Amino acid sequence: MSINSFGHLFRVTTWGESHGPALGATVDGCPPGVPVDAAMIQHWLDKRKPGQNKYTTQRREADEVRILSGVFEGVTTGTPVQLMIENTDQRSKDYGDIKDKFRPGHADITYFQKYGVRDYRGGGRSSARETASRVAAGGLAREAIKAIAPQVQITGYMVQMGPHKIDRDAFDWNQIEQNPFWVPDARAATDWAEYLDGLRKSGSSVGAIIEVVARGVPAGLGAPVYGKLDTDLAAAMMSINAVKGVEIGEGMSAAMLTGELNADEIFAPPASEDIVEIFFKGARLESTGTYIIRPQNENDKERWFKVKDLFHFTETEGGMTLQVARKALNKRMIANGGLPIVKRAEPRYSSNHAGGILGGISTGQDIVVRFAVKPTSSILTTRKTITKTGEETEIITKGRHDPCVGIRAVPVGEAMMACVLLDHMLLHRGQVGENRGTIGPDA
Ligand SMILES: Cc1cc2nc3c(=O)[nH]c(=O)nc-3n(C[C@H](O)[C@H](O)[C@H](O)COP(=O)(O)O)c2cc1C
Repeated sequence: MSINSFGHLFRVTTWGESHGPALGATVDGCPPGVPVDAAMIQHWLDKRKPGQNKYTTQRREADEVRILSGVFEGVTTGTPVQLMIENTDQRSKDYGDIKDKFRPGHADITYFQKYGVRDYRGGGRSSARETASRVAAGGLAREAIKAIAPQVQITGYMVQMGPHKIDRDAFDWNQIEQNPFWVPDARAATDWAEYLDGLRKSGSSVGAIIEVVARGVPAGLGAPVYGKLDTDLAAAMMSINAVKGVEIGEGMSAAMLTGELNADEIFAPPASEDIVEIFFKGARLESTGTYIIRPQNENDKERWFKVKDLFHFTETEGGMTLQVARKALNKRMIANGGLPIVKRAEPRYSSNHAGGILGGISTGQDIVVRFAVKPTSSILTTRKTITKTGEETEIITKGRHDPCVGIRAVPVGEAMMACVLLDHMLLHRGQVGENRGTIGPDA
């Protein structure tokens, strides 16, 4: 069976089991010249790592990634990138009791029915340890996206734990990194802590809903009809362990809306927001973040200006090209930077029920995907099951488990979004290149 891979051009194959010596991802099709090292990928793995707080499993995996191939002198070479993570905290004896029993809610029974043999230690290949490999591949995808479309930002967060939803009016992007649940609502973070603590102590578990948003994705990614961006995103999210539902944009709730409410109306952008591109001779990037560019006279502070996140800039031969909204244009910039090139701003939408995708192709709005994970099946309550030989019996799943797998599924969802988006960027580049349709008077 060769069903351990996903992606068309950016193709990820994961390998390994939870209690084997190591697991990892082989990534084929990564563009060459992408600056990457193990620390960049490690950053994302640390987000998924177990044992970071009392709300996740107490397994103590270091989850240290090693790059075995495909990177030379700090950049990808275009050849397969082999990412490996050693398993260091297996306790196979935790699973001795379940050797001949099938754990309810786990893949033990179906793997056995299919293959006639199963690695009972932690579920073997069906263990969510496999998701570490996806996060590693996603880290690489993020670096490649940065090189192609630096304005793209991918962020995942929890919007529901059990019956408790976030308050959308209290949504705060800055909260996401401030609590153990990756939740964008400070009040929910406090309430959920108490709720999950109770469940954890009683040995129970609960499900969750995770939302992953990609901002800054250009219009035009995806393809009709079997290569739809939403088809690939849904498949990617659904392939994550414990995921039982996936929605794009309005998702299932779209069934309750009328056509008037659901179709996002389209508006021409105000001309004042057209993008102006200016070339600065001799200016260079030194690090990421906020910049102060001195176009001409070092001592003339008035001529300094900041390049914030919203501004897109690229290093060009002999200088730097900067993109700013026309209304933010400063006459001195033009004087020092030469003739500006005007690019038309993108159309506006009244709402985003479509989740940033129409006809399988991105609109340029935020791509919004949600997925639901079921409650952790390994709980400390006795459950009825059967043995391999067909006798009825009971089971308690000991070992160390996440009381809500939604928490650690957040970086996994982000990784899948990164892999799918990069894959579609490469597909788009291959077929269409730079020649996308531009809306405006000369169209
Ligand atoms: C990040 C993550 C961590 C998980 N940890 C556990 C766990 O500790 N215990 C458990 O019973 N299931 C856990 N799961 C879910 C199981 O891996 C999953 O339910 C099982 O493999 C059966 O597959 P299915 O639910 O997709 O049908 C986790 C899932 C994810 C995404």
